[in-house]
Amino acid sequence: MNVLIYKLPLLFVVLSVTANQNPQLELENVLSRLSSKIKESFIGRELPDDVFLNISQYLTKHGYPLESHGITTEDGYNIVLHRIPSKKNNSAAILFVPPLGCSSIDWVSYGSNNSLALLLADLDYDIWMVNPRGTRYSMSHVTYNSSSEEFWDFSFHEKGYYDVANSIDYILNSTGLQKLATVGFSEGTSASLILPATRPEYNEKISLMVLLSPIGYMGGVRSKIALLGVEFLDLLMDLAKYIHFYGLPYFDLIPDLLVAVCSVDDFIPICRDVVESTMGYDPDELDLDQFLIIMSDKPAGLSFKQLFHYGQEIRTKSFRQYDYGTTKNLEVYGSNDPPAYNTSEITVPVAAYYGKNDYFAAVEDVNKLLGELPNVADNYLIEYEYFNHLDFLFAIHVKSLVYDQVIDVIKKHI
Ligand SMILES: *[C@@H]1O[C@H](CO)[C@@H](O)[C@H](O)[C@H]1NC(C)=O
Ligand SMILES: *[C@@H]1O[C@H](CO)[C@@H](O)[C@H](O)[C@H]1NC(C)=O
Ligand SMILES: *[C@@H]1O[C@H](CO)[C@@H](O)[C@H](O)[C@H]1NC(C)=O
Ligand SMILES: *[C@@H]1O[C@H](CO)[C@@H](O)[C@H](O)[C@H]1NC(C)=O
Ligand SMILES: *[C@@H]1O[C@H](CO)[C@@H](O)[C@H](O)[C@H]1NC(C)=O
Ligand SMILES: *[C@@H]1O[C@H](CO)[C@@H](O)[C@H](O)[C@H]1NC(C)=O
Repeated sequence: MNVLIYKLPLLFVVLSVTANQNPQLELENVLSRLSSKIKESFIGRELPDDVFLNISQYLTKHGYPLESHGITTEDGYNIVLHRIPSKKNNSAAILFVPPLGCSSIDWVSYGSNNSLALLLADLDYDIWMVNPRGTRYSMSHVTYNSSSEEFWDFSFHEKGYYDVANSIDYILNSTGLQKLATVGFSEGTSASLILPATRPEYNEKISLMVLLSPIGYMGGVRSKIALLGVEFLDLLMDLAKYIHFYGLPYFDLIPDLLVAVCSVDDFIPICRDVVESTMGYDPDELDLDQFLIIMSDKPAGLSFKQLFHYGQEIRTKSFRQYDYGTTKNLEVYGSNDPPAYNTSEITVPVAAYYGKNDYFAAVEDVNKLLGELPNVADNYLIEYEYFNHLDFLFAIHVKSLVYDQVIDVIKKHI
């Protein structure tokens, strides 16, 4: 089993490399034949109704309006904001910033009873969801071709510094509001924190920053795959350069295959094992239908620089900018080492929610981060013993375990 755990991502990388280099019919044929073969030959669960829907199909089906707003960031990325407008005028706005490899749909696809964005939409908040650069709805740049090295040259730093900043400006400008709240999950928390740390004037524009599974310091990461990646970090970075493979765009046949495999009864335990050894074991809370729905557009697109940046944070136990090596660091930052993010610049009220069994946001790391923040509005350790990194997406009782508390705090602050 352990060998398989390491081989699956490898297979995935090989498939992706081929896909990236040669996005032609041949591979598409192989993948789609493979997934229909799997569907034919094995007895599996019936797929949930909402699997493979995109966000507009999903929201239409569930009776919510959706607006798309395209903006161009200061550094030229054309990104899309999805909005569920409030039925009321002058509603408070909330901007959602998604995790790595995810897009706007993950804030709504658990239905009106369990998705944080829909629970808040039903309370008449004005919901905005950014699709950061490199994800399925935000795949163009004013000059760079989306398969170029330049296009994929970003980490969560740029997502915070540009995508989140420019989204906030666009929303405040178009609603006439003075401030908005942000909600980030996982990488979305890194991007959210980086913005006021690097552009302190944005403290004035944020009424409350909600962090679900805050990722700043990463000295306590326990994910086996992540730690294995860190061991080979330099090699992986060289390899990406050598084969000119800088990012993995959304490519629908990969989730097609993943869902086909993970809906087969015999393979479900393997899929669970891969996910849980990466994210944290949770014996009882995983909603399998929701798991398949979430997987059905994964990965939604990511640059490897995001992974390498996280690898560096794990290795150096620090929360700082990307490390290019001494020579280029001098050129880019004017110092041998990359500058640390200055957490004391983050003066907005911060509300943090985290689990005891989260392999990425370790309790001691979250406490270290919160200890440095001057304005902590809520510090909430989720009581359930096994709450892991992905339980925010598909825990059966996610609402009562954590979202009810988040909503109370949002109501109090905005
Ligand atoms: C979702 O898919 C439908 C049908 O292919 C398409 O018309 C729509 O534009 C898609 N929505 C988004 C947000 O891409
Ligand atoms: C919201 O404002 C618009 C224009 O100012 C007005 O036409 C509309 O009736 C208002 N809607 C509500 C629900 O108050
Ligand atoms: C939400 O929960 C209520 C009460 O448990 C239930 O009646 C309803 O069907 C649920 N709605 C959805 C969309 O699942
Ligand atoms: C980007 O580059 C690829 C390969 O060089 C090419 O096939 C594609 O047409 C280009 N796309 C655009 C939008 O220029
Ligand atoms: C603000 O909105 C106005 C019109 O609604 C537009 O002309 C202007 O460019 C916008 N400014 C920014 C910074 O988006
Ligand atoms: C971090 O920000 C604080 C508050 O603005 C400032 O006093 C301190 O000098 C900064 N630290 C660094 C290392 O820049």
